[in-house]
Amino acid sequence: MTRFIRSFHRWTSMAFTLTVIANFVAIGFMGQASVPPLVTYSPLLPLFLLLFSGLFMFFQPYFARRRASVAS
Ligand code: HEM
Repeated sequence: MTRFIRSFHRWTSMAFTLTVIANFVAIGFMGQASVPPLVTYSPLLPLFLLLFSGLFMFFQPYFARRRASVAS
């Protein structure tokens, strides 16, 4: 499960990076005012997914330790 979350986080980070680059390119070519909102806000979805999968990975060792101490 943790391995899946980790590789999900890794690949989502690539998607996030691409949406940020797309924003810079779109602003460079079209100017901030005429960039479609869909492009402007496109990094938010991968960023949210990164936030939740990142928080899961952060707290995972603490949950594992608690589970281990309850079991023994
Ligand atoms: C939004 C909040 C985020 C949180 C809370 C978060 C949290 C974490 C945590 C806890 C880890 C595991 C570190 C460890 O090995 O102990 C991790 C790994 C990683 N994070 Fe994030 N992260 C966030 C956003 C991002 C973003 C924006 C990127 C890049 C665009 C990113 C890229 C990565 C990568 C590449 C790894 C290594 C994954 C692997 O093991 O292959 N993260 N992150």
